Amino acid sequence: MLNNFIIDTKTYGYLSNGEWRESTNNSVIQVMSPIDGTHVGSIPNMTTQEVDAVIKNAKSAFFKWKELPMDLRVQILKKAAIIMRNNVDILTSLIIREVGKNYKESYEEVSRTADLIDFYAEEGRRIIGESIRSDTYPNYGKEKIAITERVPIGLIVSIPPFNYPINESTPKVVGAIISGNTTVLKAPSQGGISTIALGEIFRIAGLPAGVFNIVSGESSVIGDFLVTHEEVDGINFTGATSTALHIQEVLKIRKKLMPIMLLGLGGKDASIVLEDTPIDRTAKEIAKGAFSFSGQRCTAIKRVIVIDSIADSLIQKIKEEVSTYKVGNPMDQTVDIGPVINDRSADYIYSLFEDAKNKGATVVLGGRRNGRYIDPIILDNVSLDMKIAWEEPFGPILPILRVKNIEEAIEIANNSEYGLQGGIFTKDINKAFYIASKLDVGTVNVNGKDSRGPDNLPFTGVKNSGDGKTIQGAKYLIESLTRIKTTVINFD
Ligand code: G3H
Repeated sequence: MLNNFIIDTKTYGYLSNGEWRESTNNSVIQVMSPIDGTHVGSIPNMTTQEVDAVIKNAKSAFFKWKELPMDLRVQILKKAAIIMRNNVDILTSLIIREVGKNYKESYEEVSRTADLIDFYAEEGRRIIGESIRSDTYPNYGKEKIAITERVPIGLIVSIPPFNYPINESTPKVVGAIISGNTTVLKAPSQGGISTIALGEIFRIAGLPAGVFNIVSGESSVIGDFLVTHEEVDGINFTGATSTALHIQEVLKIRKKLMPIMLLGLGGKDASIVLEDTPIDRTAKEIAKGAFSFSGQRCTAIKRVIVIDSIADSLIQKIKEEVSTYKVGNPMDQTVDIGPVINDRSADYIYSLFEDAKNKGATVVLGGRRNGRYIDPIILDNVSLDMKIAWEEPFGPILPILRVKNIEEAIEIANNSEYGLQGGIFTKDINKAFYIASKLDVGTVNVNGKDSRGPDNLPFTGVKNSGDGKTIQGAKYLIESLTRIKTTVINFD
């Protein structure tokens, strides 16, 4: 059980070669709870020398790990899923305390992730290739047969975000290791203890030394060093677009190509609502989509674009729904909306609110602020000159834009630097398909809130939300974390 491992205010180590080690650096990174600022624990503030040693160990572990039978990898993952399920309560409490997520969402994050590990294990058994005869090409006979296999890439650096410290870290780890790669995960400063707990689960499950390693530290000190290290063969990053742009920039100093780069970035997901949609259900979905985890999801609904004729009744219903949400300390299991992650984030969300109010938006609901706690905000009559129409708040604020027709809705939805997901609410399947075909995003959700899950679905982003590669969804992520290797047999 993890009860003896996760201890209040403990100083945790970094995970290298299957062991928890203490950093030689005198300072640590203190993780403070966004709930009340109390100390949850500390994670190592590592030096580049320490990170260098972890990377080299992980790379040499790769050459052994890739040779181990798939069935052995599957068994280890299955064991890890059991350990996670057996520790659901302690992990739930840790997520609540470390990132301020409410009880139900924290619990679901853990149970969903245990299922995810099992699913990736099963998907590992389906990593297969194909055979191609030369006579399928013009002017060739049967003189050649090509056999393709999916093989691992090497050492993958995994960089998860704070907002799903277990569920966003796990696919990066299990996607890498079931495919035969090894990984060094950089723990987020907030949420890092949860990723360390994940490391302990795999350690107890019997994962060989060096296959899954965890480092932590100031991004300004170890960040560039980690991603540009010449032993690294891939980067799987989820986080801010600005950080991804920075990574792309610093990679230019590397003298080797980076074989794979997977990016899951920000979003400004728009839900387009047509006149014929059933109002009650649509309002419920939009409320959930906009405000779960206090809006701190890349796939949160961050704009509603509604046909004017239905706007009043839709907004009234969303308001009724969101008014039932309880704001407060998420240790209280009845609370829906907890704090946002830090003061800087709360200041930014509030500045978008002030900007919209000053430019004439109508405050339908919310806006009271107490430090990191912000009552969910609904804004009507949002216009295109307001920052909230374009910027990603990552907080509990929903702008509503009224439009005259479908074409105007599509134009506004697409006129964004982001292209993660989008939504359409309508009973008319023809209109739904038409709009879906026009939206420049990774995923379109018809009659449902935007969402990454279930965790076997492909997850991609375009424009400043990603590079179009599939970054989640068991089968798809495994494809992204492997390459095709071909052996050609020539017959006499
Ligand atoms: O923050 C981005 C997450 O990938 C969103 O995941 O749709 O499961 O909330 P979710």
